[in-house]
Amino acid sequence: MGYLGSHTTVVLQQAGYEVVSADNHSNSQADVAHRIARITGIQPRNYEIDVCDRQALTDLFEAEGPFAGVIHMAAHKSVGESVAEPLKYYHNNLLSLLQVLHCCEQFGVAHLVFSSTCTVYGEPAVLPVTENTPVNPLSPYGQTKLLCEQMLQDFVRTHPMQALSLRFFNPVGAHPSGEIGELPNGVPSNLLPFMAQTAAGLHPYLRIWGDDYPTPDGSCIRDYIHVCDLAEVHLKALEWLFDQNSKQGFEILNVGTGQGISVKQMVTAFEQTLQVTLPKRVLHRRAGDIVTMYADSQKAAAMLQWVPRFTLAQMVQTTWLWQQNLELAGLDTKLHSAN
Ligand code: UD1
Repeated sequence: MGYLGSHTTVVLQQAGYEVVSADNHSNSQADVAHRIARITGIQPRNYEIDVCDRQALTDLFEAEGPFAGVIHMAAHKSVGESVAEPLKYYHNNLLSLLQVLHCCEQFGVAHLVFSSTCTVYGEPAVLPVTENTPVNPLSPYGQTKLLCEQMLQDFVRTHPMQALSLRFFNPVGAHPSGEIGELPNGVPSNLLPFMAQTAAGLHPYLRIWGDDYPTPDGSCIRDYIHVCDLAEVHLKALEWLFDQNSKQGFEILNVGTGQGISVKQMVTAFEQTLQVTLPKRVLHRRAGDIVTMYADSQKAAAMLQWVPRFTLAQMVQTTWLWQQNLELAGLDTKLHSAN
């Protein structure tokens, strides 16, 4: 289980559900199941398989089913890498959903939650972004997520399935226990992990990618949402599906806090919360960056009776706690060596 999968497993287990996962550990650690057990007391069963492997997935459904619901979040997720290696993304992200849907069809799974992304909107003309904002993905990663949504929509038209697609904004933070969090492969490209590593002395300075954008302080604006809030949305989404009377349906929900935070504001929040001064330099713009993106999540709030609970300070604190625990556990060695 990766970053979002591990946090979602914790929330599901704490709500009384039995979780079985499939993860080939291409971007996660095998010891995450033990770490989850330290939080919940229950070690989830993980099948170390590639979800694109139809036979392996079928075996899992046969051995562990029937399932009340499936959450599909296994995917490659780096925007930059998807531009450099588009086929890797089209292959993995489309084929994995295809195989999951084949198994859902074969084993009669009626409820599915799909993890999508705000990247499908591209550079939005109007803010905040609602589910009706025109989609215009600017990267192969975003394209694959949009195509997956279309695949789901077509599937539910002819199958007894209720499906929900959650378009998340920028997931950050880690579990408050410090047991689980994101372990980026190599040097992280995302802002919060890079900031935490800079504070830990792993990088000489934080690179602020441009401050000449048409925003109040010149830096890009994003909607950062705590990963535990996202995990809770997955639980609520699943339970919403369980409560539906109709047999078929497909809904899309934005999931963010609705608060636009600039890169410079995030740097200030980090410095003030942790009482540190980060070495930093403003550099050129990063290719492909969107200027401003934040969500209108009113549909999710109303439909799922959900509100985000974690503050900006908690996003920073839990990121830092996780970074410190990574060092204690020696898990940051590959980060050192990659640097
Ligand atoms: C994008 C996607 C997001 C996806 C994520 C996966 C959009 C709007 N968002 O996030 O849905 O989950 O990729 O990787 O497409 N920054 C710096 N210095 C750094 C790192 C980042 O200044 O060292 C800046 C970036 O230029 C950007 C902001 O911080 O303005 C956030 O960047 P990042 O954390 O990489 O996320 P996105 O690219 O927004």
